This record gives sequence, C-alpha cells and structure tokens, in this order.
Amino acid sequence: MKLKIVKGTRDLYGDDVKRFQYIEEKARQVFSVYGYQEIRTPIFEKTELFAHGVGEGTDIVGKEMFLLEDRRGRSMALRPEGTAQVVRSVITNNMMRQNNHLRFYYFGPMFRYEQPQKGRFRQFYQIGAEYFGVSTPDADLELILILRQFFKEIQLHEISFQLNTIGCQKSDCRPAYKNKLIEFLQDHVDSLCENCSNRMHDNPLRVLDCKNESCIAVTSEAPKIHDTVCSDCKDHFSELCHMLDDHQVSYSVNFRLVRGLDYYSKTVFEVFSDNLGAQNAAGGGGRYDGLFEIYGAKVVPAIGFALGLDRLALLTSPEKKEQKSVFVVGTDRGAVCKLVATCREEDIICQYDPFQSSMKSQFRQANKSGAWKVLILGEEELKAKQVSVKDMQDGQQTVVELSAVVGYLKKSVAN
Ligand code: HAM
Repeated sequence: MKLKIVKGTRDLYGDDVKRFQYIEEKARQVFSVYGYQEIRTPIFEKTELFAHGVGEGTDIVGKEMFLLEDRRGRSMALRPEGTAQVVRSVITNNMMRQNNHLRFYYFGPMFRYEQPQKGRFRQFYQIGAEYFGVSTPDADLELILILRQFFKEIQLHEISFQLNTIGCQKSDCRPAYKNKLIEFLQDHVDSLCENCSNRMHDNPLRVLDCKNESCIAVTSEAPKIHDTVCSDCKDHFSELCHMLDDHQVSYSVNFRLVRGLDYYSKTVFEVFSDNLGAQNAAGGGGRYDGLFEIYGAKVVPAIGFALGLDRLALLTSPEKKEQKSVFVVGTDRGAVCKLVATCREEDIICQYDPFQSSMKSQFRQANKSGAWKVLILGEEELKAKQVSVKDMQDGQQTVVELSAVVGYLKKSVAN
C-alpha cells in the first residue's frame, strides 16, 4: 500500500500550526471582548440541512459537498460551512426561548470538493461568528467592527471591505430586481458566457459576479440592486453606511457582490487581500433574516461572517514570543529525569535528551533547542547535590543547590 495524503487536504505542523494558533488566540480575544461565546457543532449533518439552507442551486450544495451514506442509507454531508449548523443548533436546543439575542463564534474544518490551488483546499478551516436576534444595522456594524479590530490585532493592514445589499424576499424587492435583471440580460444574452446564459433565469444575480470579461462588460450597464430594493432594505443599507462612516471604517460598495449562498438578505460583505493571489477573499458574510423560517422555526433576524483561516495564515507571521526554556544534561538518567519532572511541574519549559547520549552530544542538542539555560548534572554536582546553571547567552555558569534550582530559575525568568 502506497501512503499518500488525500488531494486537497494537508497536515498542519511546525510553523503552520503556530500560525493557526496565533490567529485563533487573537480571534478568541476579540470575540470575548464583544461578548461572543464559542459553539462546537458536529463535523457532519443531514445533507438536507445544507440543501435547504445554503440552497440546492448553489455550487456549494450542487457540486461541492462530500456526501456519505450512513448504515441505514441516510444521506449525510461533511459540513461545507458553519452557519446552517449554528442555526440548526439554536433551533434544536431551543436557545431563543430564554434569550432575545445570542452571539456565537466557532473554529473548525469545513469540506468542499473544489479544485485545490493556493489558498483553496478540500478540507479548510474557518473562523466564524453569528449574531442572532437583532434586526437593526447595529448588528451589521458590530460584525464589521469585530473584523476591523481582529485584522488590527493580527496586524493585517492591506485588507479591503466590500459591501452590498441584496434586498429581501418581499415581492417588490429582490424578486422584482431579479425580473428586471433577467429582462436586461435577455437583451444581451449573445454576449454572455455559456455558464451565465444557462443560469441567468434561475440565478441571475450570479451573472453579476462572473469573472468573464464580456459578462463584466454587459453587467456594468445592468440595473443596480441597491437602487431597486424596497424602502426597508434601502434604509437599512444607508443607515449602515452612515454608521460605518461615523466609525471611520473604510469600505467600498460593490454592486457585483452577491455571495454564493442562498440564505442571504439585505447586507452582504466580503474582505479581500491583494496578497492572496487568485483566491483573494479572506472572508465573507452577511445578513440571513429568513433562514430560521426556511427551517420551519419562528423568524429570528441574524447576521454573521466566516474567515478562511488557511488564507489568513498565508498573510500573517506571528510575533515571536520569547519562551524561556531550559535543557537538562547529565550522566545519571534517573537524576536527569527527576529534575526535568520537577521543572515541568513548576511550569518551567524543560527538555532533555531521551537517548542520554554523550555529554558533548547533549550540549549540542541543548544549543539546537534554543535553550535559555542549561542545567548540568555532572558527577561532581550530583555528589554535592548541586546543579551548574549555564546561561546560553553570556556563557556564564553559576552553581545552585539542587533543592533551590526551581526558585532560582523562576527568579531569573522574572528579571
Ligand atoms: P464563504 O464565503 O463560503 O462563507 O466562506 C468564507 C471564507 O472561507 C471564504 O472567504 C474563504 O476565505 C474561506 N474558504 C471558502 N472555501 C474555501 C476553500 N475551499 N479553501 C480555503 N478557504 C476557503 C461562508 O461559509 C458563510 N457561512 C459565511 C457566513 C457566516 N455568512 C454568515 N455567517
């Protein structure tokens, strides 16, 4: 059997894991400041959850889900995203009964059968946030402020926010716009790419974000959605824009931004970085006031976002935190192990050579490990119940009583 990793997946270790941990840690910090609680949902759900919520006609559901059948023949899907799941969890656990608003965040792997490339995997990781119960633009603003603060924390400055409204399901809003758009597209169908001429009736909004040059040329003249949405959606969007201006958030309104998931209504947004290459969306989100109703529950207005952790990891380099570690070298295996254990119990980061090679080789390893101090337990030291502590920066050596060495190290760390 030839061992090979599955296409589109990867093992994370070394610096990659450090980068993930760094980003997750900063995200936790920011989320907790804003009152968000962590939620952990299963890796797989019934396929219908995503089919109904994200939408049968979307690429995610139609082409990209990893499906499996359980032993009773029921269709399950590895989660392609987190929003539908968190909503499912709020409904099945009846969480809105005692709360009129709720805030959650989550981290974890998602699965989409896409063509792998830089920043695009079949198993990828998201950091997501969902805010339930608030219909006013305050909630939209809050999520965008979280994003701004988080990017500042991870020192990501070359990020651009794009914003749009895609209206709601009321007949004079998105459905009316869709009809207007289809009418317009019909007049230009010969200039559209094959994909767009096929989908223009079922999913005309997606024609707006097609990257084909001739489709872009056609749709630049198309009626704009934010001029056509109902007055409620229009007011919501302009109030949000005012609030963002008030908070000095820089953003641009992009009428082509429609998002690839069906549950959105009103505000949608995406965060881009030019340093990511072709897969330049670092994250995206929006309002989904109709999703609870789709699942047969009482209406709960909601908004959220998800960030691609794999992509953020390409953009960040964690600050190097100096972690002071010690390395114990010695001739007596038992004594070395005992001192290592004592240090570790006292939260001192401590390593040793598990193979107990020659003293010379142990020193080499200590050097390679980047140790701050080396604790030497030679024959003489053992006899005298002492340890020689060598500072690896200035080479100075101090003899300390074995029983006092932990206290000595702790005092030196503090200095
Ligand atoms: P999404 O735009 O599908 O939204 O995904 C969010 C982010 O996940 C993307 O911007 C991208 O950074 C990352 N991402 C997506 N697919 C891949 C992939 N194959 N490889 C690497 N990264 C990827 C959602 O998933 C919504 N649930 C966001 C949301 C939350 N809306 C409301 N609440």
